[in-house]
Amino acid sequence: MEKIKTIETKEDAIKLLNIALEHEWAVSFEYVIHAYSMPKGKFWYEDPVMKNRTDARAQTIQIGIDEMYHSLQLGIIITQMGGIPSFKTDEVVRFPKIIDNLKRDKMTEDMVTNLYQSAEFSEGAFPKIQNMVLNISYDEVRHSDQFAAMMEAVKKEGAEEALCFQSSPENAEKEDIQLLHEIMRLENELLHRYLKYVILFSEHQDLSQRLFKNSIDHMRHWDKNSGILIKMGDVVQIENAEKDAKGVEKSRQPMPHLYPGADRLSALETLIPTEESLIAKYEELITLVPEGEIQEQLKLHLALNREHLFTQEWLLKNARKIKGIE
Ligand SMILES: [Fe+2]
Ligand SMILES: [Fe+2]
Ligand SMILES: [Fe+2]
Repeated sequence: MEKIKTIETKEDAIKLLNIALEHEWAVSFEYVIHAYSMPKGKFWYEDPVMKNRTDARAQTIQIGIDEMYHSLQLGIIITQMGGIPSFKTDEVVRFPKIIDNLKRDKMTEDMVTNLYQSAEFSEGAFPKIQNMVLNISYDEVRHSDQFAAMMEAVKKEGAEEALCFQSSPENAEKEDIQLLHEIMRLENELLHRYLKYVILFSEHQDLSQRLFKNSIDHMRHWDKNSGILIKMGDVVQIENAEKDAKGVEKSRQPMPHLYPGADRLSALETLIPTEESLIAKYEELITLVPEGEIQEQLKLHLALNREHLFTQEWLLKNARKIKGIE
């Protein structure tokens, strides 16, 4: 992570926010990957603020969602300031052991807290940005304490050697599992693409709210599909990851860096074929999966994507009816 300490000009402020954004994209993804790689309801910790027994996996997903909101917040402010929000990400890592992932999660929290809290703003330069950065930094302080408590609990249980779910080598031959991985990649891309357009159109609530809803749907599908992969004996993949001899996976590009569409019409035009392609993949996967709970879940995702396609087609037609709309 790059560092910027002194914030005097608008360019400095945008730079700080973009460095933070690349971190926030990475951890929003990394934490949920870590969560989806561990069992549900197995590791419980005493939450230091909520003062209740909490499932480490569920809370890690919640923290990932907080990071997504940080990303959105940063992207919107960068755009309002006339900057271009970055969709690059810091490195995403998955260790074979659950405890090593938690250790890394705490480390990244402390690192970003330091970035936010060590930024020195010239007095009166960007008071609201300074305030926002401080506010976000205390979410990170809270997250760091949560990861520390989770690590303590895992150690206390003597589960330091507990491993993440693994993908078995024979799954490479299984058409249904491979197709589900492809769907996951597309769901992840669409989730972020919709967020890009939410940020791009954030000056007006109509389009940004509609697109945000679709983004959240794709996030939910991604979440449910991760659970389906576990049931199928596999685990969520990290895109473009390389695995070393110790089984540590690292990726510098867990999601695309660039997305098409720079204005209302071009953004809306590009979403339709992507939604269609996702629908086609769900339709194919449903024929490969036996009747039952998994198939029903996939049918729900398919149905919602068909609804997205309906909405997107009308958003585009309606935008084309109005001359000069940006
Ligand atoms: Fe964050
Ligand atoms: Fe955080
Ligand atoms: Fe969709």
